[in-house]
Parts: sequence; structure tokens; C-alpha cells
Amino acid sequence: MRIGVPKEIKNNEYRIGITPNAVQTLISHGHEVCIENNAGVGSGFSNHDYLKVGASITSYPREVYQYADMIIKVKEPLPEEFELIKEGQLIYTFFHFASSEKLTKAMIERKAVCLAYETITDDQGGLPLLTPMSEVAGRLASQQGAKHLESPQGGLGVLMGGVSGVSPADVMILGGGVVGTQAALVAAGMGADVTIYDINSNRIEELQVIIPKNVSTCLSSPDAIEKHLPKAHLVIGAVLVPGAKAPKLITRNQLSIMQKGAVLVDVAVDQGGCFETTQPTTHENPTYVVDDILHYAVSNMPGAVPQTSTKALTNVTIDYAVELANHGWQNACKQYPHLANGLNIVKGKVVHHSVAEAFSLPFIPVENIL
Ligand SMILES: NC(=O)c1ccc[n+]([C@@H]2O[C@H](COP(=O)([O-])OP(=O)(O)OC[C@H]3O[C@@H](n4cnc5c(N)ncnc54)[C@H](O)[C@@H]3O)[C@@H](O)[C@H]2O)c1
Repeated sequence: MRIGVPKEIKNNEYRIGITPNAVQTLISHGHEVCIENNAGVGSGFSNHDYLKVGASITSYPREVYQYADMIIKVKEPLPEEFELIKEGQLIYTFFHFASSEKLTKAMIERKAVCLAYETITDDQGGLPLLTPMSEVAGRLASQQGAKHLESPQGGLGVLMGGVSGVSPADVMILGGGVVGTQAALVAAGMGADVTIYDINSNRIEELQVIIPKNVSTCLSSPDAIEKHLPKAHLVIGAVLVPGAKAPKLITRNQLSIMQKGAVLVDVAVDQGGCFETTQPTTHENPTYVVDDILHYAVSNMPGAVPQTSTKALTNVTIDYAVELANHGWQNACKQYPHLANGLNIVKGKVVHHSVAEAFSLPFIPVENIL
């Protein structure tokens, strides 16, 4: 199979969809790989690193899309890329369709085969291709939260760990999955007083075993969240209903009961955000203020640490990439039902129920197209 890897064009996105080692693996299975010029530089990989393992390099994104049967990417295609996608072309990447009707309609129109990393499942009920990026984003969420609590950044001027005689910051984390847990561990490591809210009582029990002393857990409810908000300095949004729009857990009205300069970091922005006032931002302009509350809502947080993120992402995408290349998407998805759960849109049909529901589109069960 011919595999194309374009350069990411999202704001300050320095990851690439594949490392040279993973290219070597695909080539050893008899496939051909074409990389866009300098696509790996931000992640620490030169054109030469890819040439050495047998890839070819091309100058223009158009050439990559024209050449390839399968595109391996990191982020969802942006409008400039829509028209490059060929009918029937397999696009293996993060899509997060529920946050963008424009993207959903464009992929339906292009009749692409959209295999979304974020809805591929595993036997434990996890999302194995999302997990490493959620680990990165969770850890970054507390780093960014700590930085934006500083007054020169527009925050209320509180140090995460406090100091002798002065209390630490109060950190609320909504959602105790991968992002929430990693955010909690980093915030706790900085000395903050952390509470994780989750609606899943089994998950709360699991957390009790692994969290340090300065983290507590709470069964999430609108009432419990509202009671806590007046004393919170930093709130991290980390909820997920796979494939669906994130539920809104903090309304605009509730911002008025918070302290001026408190910080909201919405990691769930890629699924539409879990605060009513969330708007996606970029690494270039990461924050904005609504009703005196500082909001941070960068939808590609791991792109800021590409040397870590590219390796972590490729570690989990390569095995299925090999299966897809060896057997074609249809046979590979028939063989691996967890991989088939990643199919969101196939040749103009929406085959993921949450995406169909998000935009009231007709839903075709994936079994009907395999
Ligand atoms: N912004 C970024 O760059 C970035 C990067 C990685 C992941 N993410 C996003 O972060 C979000 C979280 O990802 P994850 O891997 O931690 O997911 P996860 O499935 O591991 O955890 C989500 C948790 O949210 C809980 N939850 C669901 N609804 C809830 C509610 N109403 N109230 C409280 N808890 C609720 C679930 O029980 C679960 O424990 C996702 O939207 C993911 O796409 C964003």
C-alpha cells in the first residue's frame, strides 16, 4: 500500500503522524511511504532520518494526498486540506467530529474513509490510541493552569503549593479518567489541594487506591460542583463521553460565583468543551477572559511537546497501521472489531452513532458497510 504523511498545519502543531522507526516497520512489510518535506522537523526527525529508512520525500501536500491510499496524520484535516482528500481514501488520524459540523459535512462530501484514533477501543473498555495524548494533555493541564494562575498571565495570583503558613491552591478536576488522573498527579505534586469529580463510582473507587494524600474524590453532580466553585482557584475540564459532544458542567451564570481571576482549563475542548463559555484557542493565543474568569482551551495541547508526543502516539498507532496496510481497511476492521469502532464516516455515510446524533444525521451501523 502507498502511505502518505503530510505536515501538520494546525497552529503550533509540531507533531508528525509517524516516526522513522515506524516507517521502517511499514516498509519491511512491503509498503511505500511518502513524507512531506520537513514534516518531522518539529518532532526532532529530519528528512534524512526518513530517507535513511526508505521513505520518499515530496515538497507539496497535494502530492502526498494524490500519491497515497492511506494518509496517516495527527490532527483533523483543516479546510485547506479538505479538497486534497480523494474519494475512498483512508484517513487515519484524530477527528473529534462531534466538535465540528463543518468537518463532519466536509468528510461526508469527500467520501473519505475516516478512521478516528479517539474512538478505537480495547478489551478493557479503554481508548488506547487516545490514552497517550490524554496523559500528555493531563500533565500539561496542570502546568498551564499553574502558569496562568500567576498575575502577569491574568490569573488571580496564587501559587499551586502555597508556602509555609499560606494555604495551597484549590484545584477542581472534572472527570477522573486519563486526563483527570494525570492532571491530579501533577497538581498534587506541586502541592495543590485537589478534588476529582466523576460520575462513575467504580472509577472513583479505583482512584482512591492510587491518589496521593492531597487529592480527594467526589461523585459528580451539578449541586456538588456548584458548591465547590466559590473556593476553586483552578478548574480542569477532563470529561469524555466517547465520540459525543462533551456535557456542559459549568454554565456562564456560575462564573459569577467564582473568584475573579480564577482559571478554567478545558482539555475537553476537542469534543466541544465542558464549560458553556469554552471557545477553542491556539498555542499562539491560548487564553481569553469571560466575566473575569481566565479560560485556556487549546485543542492540540500535546502539540506543544512534540518530541514526547510523536513517539508516544506512534507507539500506539503503528500496529493497526500495519494491519490496515497489509489487509486494507475493510478486512482489517472485519478482523479487529475494536479497530472497526474507529470508523466514523465511510464513503459519505456516518457509521458512528454519537457523531450522527451530534448533528442529527442518518446513522448506518458499521456492520452494514463491512
Ligand atoms: N485538548 C487537548 O489537546 C486534548 C488532548 C488529549 C485528550 N483531550 C480530551 O480530553 C478529554 C478527556 O479524555 P480522557 O482520555 O481523560 O477520557 P477518559 O474516558 O479516560 O475519562 C473521561 C472521564 O470523564 C468521566 N465523565 C463523563 N461524563 C462526566 C460528567 N458528566 N461528570 C463528571 N465526569 C464525567 C468519565 O466517567 C471518565 O472517567 C477528551 O475529550 C479528550 O478528547 C484533549
